[in-house]
Amino acid sequence: MYRSAVYDEPLLNELEEKRNNTYTPVDVLPSSLQRKEKINIPDLDETQVIRHFFRLSQMNFGIDSGMYPLGSCTMKYNPRLCEEISRWDSFAMTHPYQDESTIQGNLQIMYELEQLFCEITGMDCFTLQPAAGSQGEFTGLLLTRAYHESHHDFERNEIILPDTSHGTNPASATMAGYKIIEIPSTKEGTVDLEILKKTLSSKTACFMLTNPNTLGIFESGIEEIAKIVHKAGALLYYDGANINAIMGKAKPGDMGFDIVHLNLHKTFSTPHGGGGPGAGPIGVKKKLETFLPIPRITKKKDTYYLNHDYPKSIGKIKAFYGNFSVLLKAYIYILLMGRDGLKESSEIAVLNANYMKKKLIDSEKYDLPYKELRKHEFVLSCERLQKEKGIRALDIAKRLLDYGLHPPTIYFPLIVKEALMIEPTESESKRTLDEYIKALIRIADEDISSVKNAPSNTPVRRVDEASAIKKSLLTWTSLQEK
Ligand SMILES: Cc1ncc(COP(=O)(O)O)c(C=O)c1O
Repeated sequence: MYRSAVYDEPLLNELEEKRNNTYTPVDVLPSSLQRKEKINIPDLDETQVIRHFFRLSQMNFGIDSGMYPLGSCTMKYNPRLCEEISRWDSFAMTHPYQDESTIQGNLQIMYELEQLFCEITGMDCFTLQPAAGSQGEFTGLLLTRAYHESHHDFERNEIILPDTSHGTNPASATMAGYKIIEIPSTKEGTVDLEILKKTLSSKTACFMLTNPNTLGIFESGIEEIAKIVHKAGALLYYDGANINAIMGKAKPGDMGFDIVHLNLHKTFSTPHGGGGPGAGPIGVKKKLETFLPIPRITKKKDTYYLNHDYPKSIGKIKAFYGNFSVLLKAYIYILLMGRDGLKESSEIAVLNANYMKKKLIDSEKYDLPYKELRKHEFVLSCERLQKEKGIRALDIAKRLLDYGLHPPTIYFPLIVKEALMIEPTESESKRTLDEYIKALIRIADEDISSVKNAPSNTPVRRVDEASAIKKSLLTWTSLQEK
């Protein structure tokens, strides 16, 4: 287009004429749309604006600034190569409205990514559409309903969840119109088979489980769980946020799961969408394929198509076919790592978590409720510190900020009192883990007031989080208006 403009005589003349007639927006805007008073926004020059935003960016914390061991919702390093390639014009400048024939390469990547996910999870087919793990859950639950209704089974309106489940599980199930039934875990921190058996009924649509669960414990009774769930006519849903613990070792498809979602940010090193442009693909067994969202990517001979020809599909879940640039990063990551690399990443994630767990338990400052053997994450309790010194998990999290460290997830899962949920990931070196361990041990011995009043050397001191949520001020207000 640019090239043709150079040779386009009339277009050049028109541009020249416009340049000579110096219109301002005020000349062309109807007076009814023009502001009559001076606009009340800060009057700043470019230098001030740049410096303001640059300073703000330095006050931020991200995975590039340090370890980010948020158990369950962890962030891990996003390899620069994946970021770089995804910005190539040949990818970044493509548009979802382009004709299929002009985006064959993109379609091929998505088609192959679906196959790779099938291989990793043991599922039969995938959709890449959902924009986050939680949207994947919601999609999976819509598929659950479509599946039961196709069997004229309209009574199944309950979803069973263990009390270790991630908050998005009950939220997604509620959004999909289901009633939630939460079941307590055993004293080992795993699914209680007897309670599950008693809870399953002709009303159960699905049992949602993550394995390893959010305590980091592998549900060894999974085969029996799959058997009794299926016997009750229900489906078994896999919250695959924790698949980074078992990749290359075990597949949810082999464990008997019918639907699986993956959080690409957790396992495949893409940035976390945080409600924004993330990705939470879902995989299903053959019996659910016909209900998957459209368009599906299909291949005939050497050509790829966006196929809408699925009359029983639940429809569209997300615009176009998902967040292509995020999917692309995951595709590159998988190819870079290879089969052995993915397996090794799980092994190191588990090793790192267990190394930290052991050092922290040995320090005798924190306790580890439930079973000792953990996978990629572990949950400590600081209930003893609370009883002895009045120091809570929140105080420890705030004090870590003074050490320049990002806190772990706190107060989740709910079954651990004063919980510190730590997931170091495979990205971190032993040296970084040791620094974090040292800080946690030191904080437990510090004088109470420095911990209770933390953070004391961050740009913002301890905020009133309840008020911040309840009275959120999200727009700029001038000083005069205050
Ligand atoms: C176990 C589990 N399930 C579901 C989710 C929700 O995923 P997302 O944040 O991508 O919506 C998370 C968060 O990462 C998680 O840890």
